Amino acid sequence: MVATTARRVSAVPLAPGRVPVLGHAPALLRDPLGFLGSLSRYGGVVQIRLGPRAVLVVTDAALVHTLLVALARDCPRGAVQDTLKNAFGDGLLMSDGSAHRDRRRTVQPVFGPDRMTAYVPLMQRVAEERIGRWQAGQVVDVPKEMNHLALEIVTRALFGARLREDSTIAFHRALPDMVKGQIVQSLYPHPAFARLPLPVNRRFDAAVRVLNRVVDQAVGAAGEAAPADGTLTALLRGAVDPASGRPLTEADVRSEAITMFGAGTETISSTLTWFIQELLDHPEVAARVLDELDEQLEPGAELTPEAIERLGYTRSVAHEVLRLHTPNAFLMRTATKQVELGPYTVPAGTELLYSLTALHRDPALYPDPMRFDPGRQQPGGAPAAGRHAFMAFGAGKHKCIGEAFAWAEMAVAAATILRRWKLTPVPGVRTREVVWTAVQAQGLRVAVTPRRAAARNGLPSQGTLSCPTEATR
Ligand code: HEM
Repeated sequence: MVATTARRVSAVPLAPGRVPVLGHAPALLRDPLGFLGSLSRYGGVVQIRLGPRAVLVVTDAALVHTLLVALARDCPRGAVQDTLKNAFGDGLLMSDGSAHRDRRRTVQPVFGPDRMTAYVPLMQRVAEERIGRWQAGQVVDVPKEMNHLALEIVTRALFGARLREDSTIAFHRALPDMVKGQIVQSLYPHPAFARLPLPVNRRFDAAVRVLNRVVDQAVGAAGEAAPADGTLTALLRGAVDPASGRPLTEADVRSEAITMFGAGTETISSTLTWFIQELLDHPEVAARVLDELDEQLEPGAELTPEAIERLGYTRSVAHEVLRLHTPNAFLMRTATKQVELGPYTVPAGTELLYSLTALHRDPALYPDPMRFDPGRQQPGGAPAAGRHAFMAFGAGKHKCIGEAFAWAEMAVAAATILRRWKLTPVPGVRTREVVWTAVQAQGLRVAVTPRRAAARNGLPSQGTLSCPTEATR
C-alpha cells in the first residue's frame, strides 16, 4: 500500500547552491550548521550532492526518529563511522547488527544505575582535584580545563586508571586531526583516497597512533597488573564473544576504550563550556542555579545521585544548553535495502545524513530557537512542537549508552566549579563554535576568584559568575 503511494527518491527536492563537480561539499565544509539548518525550508527530506555522491538530508524530527528507530535494522551507520572503524576497529560506536547488540549487552553493566552511587562521588573528587589547582586571579582556559576534566573522569570511572598529564595533552592535540580526517575521508568518492599521502590523511594517521598510545596507557597490557574489579577493562577482559565463543581480543578491548574516550569526552567538555558561557551571558539564570546549589547541597558533603536529583533547575539549564549547543553536528546512516521514509521510497545504497544540532535550532520546533531559555525545559514551560523535538542523545538501538553518566557528570562538574569559584569573563573573549562532526566549544577564558573571598570583598553576593561587559557579548 505504502509502496504504491510513495514517491521515488528522484522527487526529493534538491538543495540550491550546488557547484560543478564538488556539489554542496564546499557549502557543507564552509558553514556546516548554517547549511544544514537552511535545508528544512525545502522539505523534511532534501537531496544534496557531495562530489559525485547523492546524500539525503533528513530535516524533519519525526523522520529522523523513524530512521533511527523503525528503520534501524535496514539503515545502519554510514561513511562517517566507517572511517573510524578502519582506524579503531569494531567498538560500540563503530559496529552494527548482532556484533553491536552483543557488545552493547557486554558493556551495559558499567553504565547501570547502581554504578552511579560510586561514580558521582568519584566525579566530584576528580573535579575538585582539577579545579583545586586553579589559583586566585588566574585566567583559566575553560575548554581546555573541561577537556582534561572530562577525559580524567572517563579514565578513572570506567577504567580505574590515571593518564599522565603529557598523555592527556597529547590526546586533546590529536583529537581535532582525527575528527577532521574522519569527516574529509567520509566525503571521499572512494575509500582508497584515504591511503593517498595527502596532509589530511597523514595527520589523521598520526592522530590515530597517538590516540591508540593513550588508550594503551588507560587499559594497560593484558597480563600486567590485573584491572580493578568492576572496571570496563576487567569486564571486557572477562567477556566472551557470543558469536565465536572465544574471549574478546586485546584489539576489542582497545577499540571499546577508544570508543568511550571519543564519545564521552568532547561531548561533555563542549557542553560544560557552553554551560559556563550561557551563565555568564544570563546572570539571572546563574543566580538561580547558585541559589539552588546552596539550598540543596550541604557544604562539604559528598555528592550523591539523590543530591543531584534535587537540582531540578540546574538540570533544566543543562537541558537547554544541550538543546542549543547539541554536540553532534551530523551523523549518517546508509540504507542496506529499500526502505520507506515518510513519503519517499529510498533505494538500497542511499546515504542519509541528519544533524541533531540543526534539528534543535529549527524554528518549527522551538520558537526563536537561538534564544537561550531554560524555562522551555521546565514543567509548564512552552512545549516544543512534536514528540521528538529533543534527541541530543540520539534514539533507537544506538542511543547514547552514557546518557545517565553524562547528566550526572554535567551536574557534578557544574556544582563543584560554581560552588568554589567566582568566574569573571576576560573582556572581548567568548566561546565560539567550531564545527566538524562535533560542535566544539573554543575560546572561552575566565578569571577565577574563590567564591568566599569574592563575597568578603563585597563583590555580588549571589554571584559565582559576574555579568559580562558589553564588549564580551
Ligand atoms: C553531553 C554528552 C553526550 C552527548 C550529547 C552524547 C550523544 C550521543 C549520541 C547522539 C549518540 C548516538 C550516535 C548515533 O546514533 O550514531 C551517542 C552514542 C554513544 N555515546 Fe554518547 N553522548 C554524550 C556523552 C557520552 C558519554 C559520557 C559516554 C561514555 C562515557 C558516551 C558514550 C557513547 C557510546 C559508547 C555511544 C554508542 C552507543 C551505541 O551505538 O550503542 N556518550 N552519544
